[in-house]
Order: sequence, then structure tokens, then C-alpha cells
Amino acid sequence: MEMAVIGTGYVGLVSGVCFAEAGNTVVCVDRDETKIALLQRAKSPIFEPGIEAYMARNMEAGRLAFTSDVAAAVRGSDMIVIAVGTPSLSNGEADLRFIREVAEAVGQAMNGRKIVAVKSTVPVGTNETVRRIIAEQTDEPFDVVSIPEFLREGSAIQDTLHPDRIVIGLDNRELEPTLVGLHRAFTDRIYVTDVRSAEMIKYASNAFLATKISFINEISNICEKVGADVTQVAAGMGMDTRIGPSFLNAGIGYGGSCFPKDTKALIQLAGNVDYEFKLLKSVVEVNADQRYKIIAKLEQALGHVQNAVIGIWGLSFKANTDDIRDSPAFDIAQTLLRRGARLKLYDPVAMEKMKEKLDHPFIQWCESAMEAAASADAVCLLTDWQEFKDVDLRLLIYVMNQPIVVDGRNIFAAEQVAMANVRYYAVGRPNLQASDRAEAPAV
Ligand code: UGA
Repeated sequence: MEMAVIGTGYVGLVSGVCFAEAGNTVVCVDRDETKIALLQRAKSPIFEPGIEAYMARNMEAGRLAFTSDVAAAVRGSDMIVIAVGTPSLSNGEADLRFIREVAEAVGQAMNGRKIVAVKSTVPVGTNETVRRIIAEQTDEPFDVVSIPEFLREGSAIQDTLHPDRIVIGLDNRELEPTLVGLHRAFTDRIYVTDVRSAEMIKYASNAFLATKISFINEISNICEKVGADVTQVAAGMGMDTRIGPSFLNAGIGYGGSCFPKDTKALIQLAGNVDYEFKLLKSVVEVNADQRYKIIAKLEQALGHVQNAVIGIWGLSFKANTDDIRDSPAFDIAQTLLRRGARLKLYDPVAMEKMKEKLDHPFIQWCESAMEAAASADAVCLLTDWQEFKDVDLRLLIYVMNQPIVVDGRNIFAAEQVAMANVRYYAVGRPNLQASDRAEAPAV
């Protein structure tokens, strides 16, 4: 197919690249000309493992191009994919400004029958708004379909090329063979439904995953009080196929650009039709509290954090991304600074983005995990990067002022900790004191 993908954020860029990889001719559109200039040189404005190699290959094959000319892109395509952002308004509702602007531009450029697919996460009913806006601009025939995106940052290419499922919402069943055919390149697990249900599937899926996380975080808080280990509990629960093992990692709560925004938007969407989504409200509330529990652990370990030197391992909202949007690390760092702590911050890729947001005389930016730990009174792990999993904890007793590790992601095993002779505080697991250690081998 000849396709135009409008919006080159995570969803748009990755979808465009993957549609090209599947053999379609794709032009990705963004009104940000600086971004387009970068993309035209096969450089990705987002950090996503592997993406530039896919971009270069498809650009060389003549299947992938970038432009800021939305009208030309629309005119040259059979299918237009809308993948612009839907940020939160102050009341939590999704801001559809960019969707409306794009719909208008698409309508103005229409020159023959086209399929318009909405991939942005949008409240139920938005596809109808898109249809109405386009129809106001053109007499050309067109269809609007909903094809929500389920990719995760950090594994976006693989998620798109090998998805668990693809959901296609359409009201004109004649489009089914074309759209199913287009997506068969990725999977046979294609679920075709009506537009409104497709829009809801996206929100319901994110809300359910967020619920799993808040659920296990609450269980972890109880585990701490009753002496159980949440990682063992999650493993045992996850063996039940009705529950499943994924998204049961207790920690500092979810962050990022999706769960926080989409949970609030669904609560608001429900509220707009006079339904109070009590469960999801609690999920959000639990998540808001969870990130601060790590500070209580630091205070428990140190007495107080004022003037304490704390090494922070990880700033991005999760591993394999430089995204710091709604990253728990930001709130945690800010609160620690407010309480007078001195921070040594390190992240493998998110340092530059965090430097733009966080500035304080008590911050020292470090170039490695060990540098952040050096002379620190405690190290606090906030992102589950592989680089941190690979740290030899046994070295900490040599570099730290006192070897205290507060692990916000439960990445270290009890045996590892016991061998390292450190005081260890995790989430929903018993604390380990240096005296609990097995015989520590010489390093
Ligand atoms: C999420 C969904 O997983 C995607 O399916 C969806 O397409 C995307 O939102 C979106 O709507 O665009 P993403 O935000 O990239 O993807 O990241 P996740 O891997 O889902 O993680 C979200 C947050 O939950 C992270 O802060 C992560 O650390 C946290 N998390 C995840 C936990 O605390 N525990 C877990 O067990 C899993």
C-alpha cells in the first residue's frame, strides 16, 4: 500500500518503519521540520534500540521517506495513519487538538477514496469526530478506522513486527480483507471489531495493565508488614494461566507517557457518561503513593536523608528508553533534594533529558554506576537497566561510604546481596543486613 503516517513520535515513527519493512511504501509526516531533517538522514529523534538500522534499510530500498508536507503525503497515499499525540488536559481528559488539526489537513488534501486509520490513543467516539471533520472539508469518499497501537517503548520495533494481537475497528465491513491483508505481515492474531470497541480496547488494556501493577504494589506493601516476599508471591500467582506472570513486578509504580495519561483519561471518559470508575481511581492513587515509599526506605536506612549522599541508579521511567516523562525518578530526586540530600545521578541514556528538567546545586551528574556509588551513604536503584543488573555488588563495600542499597525494582537476588556484604532494602521483600551474609568471597 501507499501510506502516509502523520506524527513521528514513538507510535508514528515505529509504525511507519514497520509498515515499510512489511513492503509498503510509507511517507512519515511531521510538521517539525528539524525533526524531519534529522529523519531524512536516517537519524532517529527517539532512543529506540534498532530503529536506525530499520530506517536506513527501508530508506535505501525506496520504501520509506520523510516530509513535513502533509498535503502532498495525503495526496500520494491510499491510506493515512494518524499517530499524533493526545496529551492530558488539566482535568485528565485527552487533548484532541492535534487530532482535529490533522483531520482538517487530511480533509483538505483528499483527492480520491482513502482509508484514514486512527492509531493515536483516543477516547471512544473520537473516530466519529475525525470522520465529521474530514467530511466538512471534502466530498471525496473515505473511511475512518481505528487501529490502536500496543507497542512498548524500548521494544517498540519487535512489538510491532511480532505483536500479541492487532485490533482493527471498522464500521464498513468491506474494508476487512484489505486491512487484515495489510496486517497479516505481522501476525494472524487479528481481531476485527467495531470502531467504538476498538477505541475502548486500547484504554481498557492499558488500564488493566496499570491495575496489575498497582495490585502487586499493594500486595508488596502488605508483604513488608507480614514478612512475605512479593517476588515469590508474584511468581506463584503468575503460574496460574488465568493470572499470568507479566506486569507483576512490584517497584516504584508505573510512569511514562501512557499509563498515567490513559488511566486518567479513562476515568474522565467514564465520568463524562456519569460512571465513577472507582477501581481505576484507586489504581492511580496507589501509584501516586508508591514512588514515595522508596524515600521512607532510605530514611529508615539512613535515619534521615538531610546531608546524606545518595547515588541514584536510573532516571528513565523504565529500562531501554531515554524517556523521562512522568518518571518516578524525577519526583523521587526532587523530594530528596527538598529534604536536603546530596544526589549523585547516573543513567545509561537519560542523563541529558533529566539535566534539562532537574537543576540543583546538590546534584552531581556521574558517568557510571560506580561513580554514582562512590563515597555515597546509600545507592537507590530506580530503573531496571541491564547495566545495573550486571553491577558486581561486592565492589560497593570498597567504594561507598556505607554499603546501603535501596532497590526500587527488586533486581538483585538475595544470594547476590548476601555475598556482597551490603545492607539491602527492596520492595515487598525482607530487608537484608550485612550480618545476614553468607561467607563473602575475596573480590
Ligand atoms: C505501555 C503498554 O505496555 C503498551 O502496550 C502501550 O502501547 C503503551 O503503554 C502505550 O499506550 O503507548 P510503555 O509505557 O512503553 O507501554 O511501558 P511498559 O513497559 O508498559 O511500562 C510502563 C510502566 O510500568 C513503567 O514505568 C514500568 O517500569 C512499569 N512496570 C511495568 C512496573 O512497575 N511493573 C511491571 O510489572 C511492569
